[in-house]
Amino acid sequence: MSERRGVVIGNWKMNLDYVEAVHLIQQLGVLLRHEPSSHTDISVAPPFVDLRSVSSVIEAERIDVGMCAQHVSAFDAGAHTGEVSLRMCARLGVTSFLVGHSERRTHYAMTDDVVKATLHHVTRQSHVAVLCVGETLDAREEGRQEHVVMDQLTSALTGMDRDQLTHVQIAYEPLWAIGTGRSATAEEVREIDVFIREALMSLGVERPVVLYGGSVTPDNAADLIRQGPDGFLVGGASLKAESFLAIVRAVDDCYAETR
Ligand code: PGA
Repeated sequence: MSERRGVVIGNWKMNLDYVEAVHLIQQLGVLLRHEPSSHTDISVAPPFVDLRSVSSVIEAERIDVGMCAQHVSAFDAGAHTGEVSLRMCARLGVTSFLVGHSERRTHYAMTDDVVKATLHHVTRQSHVAVLCVGETLDAREEGRQEHVVMDQLTSALTGMDRDQLTHVQIAYEPLWAIGTGRSATAEEVREIDVFIREALMSLGVERPVVLYGGSVTPDNAADLIRQGPDGFLVGGASLKAESFLAIVRAVDDCYAETR
């Protein structure tokens, strides 16, 4: 029960139509059957329109992969054109939700208030919310990363009860590392990981789950996972079964050996 497990989430972003998505989840299923990951919880976050197809394959082929939504409305139902509700996703087998990914914050005007409302909405219904935080390149160059992250955490988590807090995971994703091929260094990951865990504990989270995201690849995963994160939020490298599972394996090996 108290065993710590790795967490790897593949964020497919706006890639793969439903036929391509089915193909990828089938490939993941075949490869995982050969080499299951016993210490790591794997999920994928397909585009909304792929969820039904991906969930059917997962169910039919009993693939040990969970489903995560890339975004969700903070409202239950009604006049919200273009939005998708938590109940609709849950009905398809989605159990976790990315909240406040930097691409939503930056390009779709997702404010701190909306991030907070969404996070509270998801955790109130006992689903896992993966709150994405991270600083811009400017903030990093000015040494303000901890300040920015603390503000994002405080703003989103304030007012949550104990039960809600147990459903929150944090993905630290510095904006300058997302999709750039330049991941944070081992030292940068180690430092911010410690900082976030301490911040979460001060906010009442008893057992923080902290992921790193931003240009994670099969080449840097083994090194980065040893710096302290529970796992990774993977974008680009999650679009190919082999590279995604190589990252999963790096996490799984680390958990098998040392945790
Ligand atoms: P990346 O994306 O792995 O392609 O950098 C990570 C993310 O945005 O979740």
